[in-house]
Amino acid sequence: MTEKIFEMQHIDKLYGTLLANNDVSIHLNQGEILCLVGENGAGKSTIMKILYGLEQPTDGEIYVKGEKVRFHTPSDAMAKGIGMVQQHFMLFENMTVAENIVFKNEIRKGLFMDRKRTVETVKELSEKYGLKIDPEAKIEDCPVGLRQRVEILKILYQSAEIIIFDEPSAVLTPLEVDSLLETIKSLAASGKSIVLITHKLQEVMAVADRIYVMRAGKVVAERLRGETNTDELAFLMVGHHPALRDVAAPQPGEVLLETKKLSLHREHRDILKDVDLHVNAGEVVGIAGVSGNGQTELELCLTGLERPTEGQVFLLGKEVTNASVKTHRDSGMAYISEDRYLWGSAAEGALSENVLMAKENRAEFNRYGFLKHDAIKEYTEKLIKRFDVKANDTDQKIRELSGGNAQKLITAREIMMDTPVLICCEPTRGIDIGAMEFIHDQILEKREKGCGVLLVSSELSEIMTLSDRIYVLFEGKIAGEFKRGAVDEKTLGILMLGGRRDETEKIRQ
Ligand SMILES: Nc1ncnc2c1ncn2[C@@H]1O[C@H](COP(=O)(O)OP(=O)(O)OP(=O)(O)O)[C@@H](O)[C@H]1O
Ligand SMILES: [Mg+2]
Repeated sequence: MTEKIFEMQHIDKLYGTLLANNDVSIHLNQGEILCLVGENGAGKSTIMKILYGLEQPTDGEIYVKGEKVRFHTPSDAMAKGIGMVQQHFMLFENMTVAENIVFKNEIRKGLFMDRKRTVETVKELSEKYGLKIDPEAKIEDCPVGLRQRVEILKILYQSAEIIIFDEPSAVLTPLEVDSLLETIKSLAASGKSIVLITHKLQEVMAVADRIYVMRAGKVVAERLRGETNTDELAFLMVGHHPALRDVAAPQPGEVLLETKKLSLHREHRDILKDVDLHVNAGEVVGIAGVSGNGQTELELCLTGLERPTEGQVFLLGKEVTNASVKTHRDSGMAYISEDRYLWGSAAEGALSENVLMAKENRAEFNRYGFLKHDAIKEYTEKLIKRFDVKANDTDQKIRELSGGNAQKLITAREIMMDTPVLICCEPTRGIDIGAMEFIHDQILEKREKGCGVLLVSSELSEIMTLSDRIYVLFEGKIAGEFKRGAVDEKTLGILMLGGRRDETEKIRQ
């Protein structure tokens, strides 16, 4: 019989009157990879935060290796061998990889840290688990995928036996995702036990041994990987099969957004080089690319958050190259930011305040400088209802929403702005497959109304489904331009990795 490494029985978690976990009973076997799936707000993060000691259960019991436990802090959980890789990494930028890994558990020589032994120990650890890192590199120089590796090593250094991952792939490039999945598999093979929360069902099918599906705080299904498939899991999560979309031909109008030779140099490097692109009215234009090829900087230059070194940006025929974010917004641009917490929202602000952002001067919400609170509340309620954001009330802080629901609120806010141009970056990151369909419908509806949408997404399927035209961005340059249907996923994939476009004809309007 396999040993249950942990078991949670009849867990309830109340936030005010909201039952985030409702009689949840789950367990994990030694050496197993367990996936938790379910719609946004289903209670996945909550149940794992309880296991990791970040939250206290309202009711229920937890056993680790048969012993009843009660965790008050993550250190209590860590002492019993439970570690969690957080989505927002908790690393110190100006310290080295090795220093971060041993932080709070330093190897000492007398009063001081023993640098040599620290580096050696970290090296051994990284070799043992096949997680390649440079112990002496500074964190600030490490890309996201590497930082995640450091987080994992930090947990392994503290001898964790159970490792919890909460949507670890949301921030990674496709290559980094592959390597993460390999790491997860090899950790399990070496006897560690894993919990993985993800919305990506291909990842589930690639690594899971067993799967729990959660809905509205409850576990509604349990499956072995071998007895299920992505279609069934999707159905169990959202209650219907995802629809195949038939998109009508676009009716492009005049040019709404245009860049001319847009370039950005940083530290003697071309981050963006001579980018010429345009978005017409009634068109969704996709930017395909492996993240890190200039998408983020393009996004920042287009919205006024960063000044390009050379070139120009035109919005509705007017030059806005070095104009402020406010000018961009006032001239008719809405913007769903790739980083919802950095640019997109104020985490401590109420939902209504976050919804009001960039609209505080509109007559419907403001009278002679006084905010019309009832109107704001009503608008927020409308938006929450229409986009099915799971929230208690409009005064709630945005950081109390589940990750996907916070994303939905911001996406909703920007889509509801009646602007002619929408810049849409990773609009469905962390969003469940049911809500994803809804957001895609909203984007297409904007296009029907004549809005010009620029869609930046690392999900190739999202780009392929929605875009009327696609630009491929590689190392800051446009490496190809295609109309809908003129390119397949494979060719795009090759171009995204810097391959050449030999047979595929470049098209221009
Ligand atoms: N600190 C909090 N205060 C109030 N409500 C909370 C708090 N944390 C979570 N909730 C609520 O509990 C419910 C479950 O949230 P949880 O974060 O567990 O969802 P999730 O399944 O992880 O969703 P997602 O896929 O969007 O990350 C949500 O409705 C959320 O709004
Ligand atoms: Mg979550």
